[in-house]
Amino acid sequence: MEHEQNINNGSIQVKPSSTSVVEMTELVLPNDTNLLGNLLGGRLMHWIDIAGAMTASRHSNRTVATVSVDSLDFKHPARMGELVMLKAKLTWTGRTSMEVLVKAYAENLKSGAVILISRAYLTFVALDDAGKTVAVPQLIPETDEERKMFEEACVRRQERLKRKEED
Ligand SMILES: CC(C)(COP(=O)(O)OP(=O)(O)OC[C@H]1O[C@@H](n2cnc3c(N)ncnc32)[C@H](O)[C@@H]1OP(=O)(O)O)[C@@H](O)C(=O)NCCC(=O)NCCS
Repeated sequence: MEHEQNINNGSIQVKPSSTSVVEMTELVLPNDTNLLGNLLGGRLMHWIDIAGAMTASRHSNRTVATVSVDSLDFKHPARMGELVMLKAKLTWTGRTSMEVLVKAYAENLKSGAVILISRAYLTFVALDDAGKTVAVPQLIPETDEERKMFEEACVRRQERLKRKEED
């Protein structure tokens, strides 16, 4: 029954997260920084959103809209001249919505040091050409870690929906 919700173009679709992983690299330029030469939080949020959307779109083969961003933590600053690498991976699918974990790393090109600077969970909804929500292929977690992340995502979803109801 569950799979029937994921009928897309007439055929049942299930996919592992490995088919939609996105890795994106940006160079921190002067226009991306504050007066201290640190990457602007808003610019990083934009890149996180783009990386997450590409993953959700790759999984669903649809245009997607961001409906929620949560657990967005800034752990360390990235400096002008460093590379920022974003790694986005699908963690959960519902009927039309998908959760993506995006991790951002800064690489100092002179020392080669790489540190985790930020991570966030984003939820996207797949839309058809008319802008209506549409069913997505079901995510099949393949490893113990992916199964754990899927279960944890269910808890986060309940929290998000509770917040939505409070509005
Ligand atoms: C995306 C949108 C069309 C969905 O409309 P909607 O009336 O919320 O649709 P639904 O209630 O059917 O929800 C669709 C799915 O999103 C989920 N959802 C909606 N709001 C959510 C939220 N705040 N957090 C988590 N999931 C959410 C629903 O649970 C449902 O998931 P499911 O199909 O997997 O069970 C509408 O919310 C919207 O236009 N939002 C603005 C999007 C936007 O402008 N984003 C920024 C630019 S991309």
